[in-house]
Amino acid sequence: ATEKTFAIVKPDAVEKNHIGAILALIEKNGLKIRALRMMHMSRPIAEGFYHVHKARPFFGELVEFMTRGPCVVMVLEGENAIAKWRELMGATDPAKAAEGTVRKLYGANVGENATHGSDGPDTAKFEIGWFFPGYDV
Ligand code: CMP
Repeated sequence: ATEKTFAIVKPDAVEKNHIGAILALIEKNGLKIRALRMMHMSRPIAEGFYHVHKARPFFGELVEFMTRGPCVVMVLEGENAIAKWRELMGATDPAKAAEGTVRKLYGANVGENATHGSDGPDTAKFEIGWFFPGYDV
């Protein structure tokens, strides 16, 4: 079914001028960009967004990274958009990501991995609402 997901071009990919290439991959793969904004996350915004990872040992590092520069936040839509965007991104660790995936192409390591994508319908709903309040999911 047609569904929406939430995506981020993370600070590392923005720093390396990969915004355009990543958006092109998204569009080439048939996903529609329904909302898009460039922003520099504050600490509370990043912490709230990643609240499910609060107890993880890498939480501090993750928030530090996500707040170090601007990123691009987006709502994507399409057939099975959640799974499709995750497939297109590849594995969380770029070293384990398949050839041609965003993280293989543009990610550096498990922390600096170029992009984010929602892992399910409930997370997509929360994440879209976190960055696009009032957006009709
Ligand atoms: P993301 O999909 O944005 O969701 C949680 C993020 O935590 C994940 O991508 C990774 O970038 C990050 N992450 C996961 N494992 C580690 C780790 N071992 N060290 C640092 N960051 C991590």
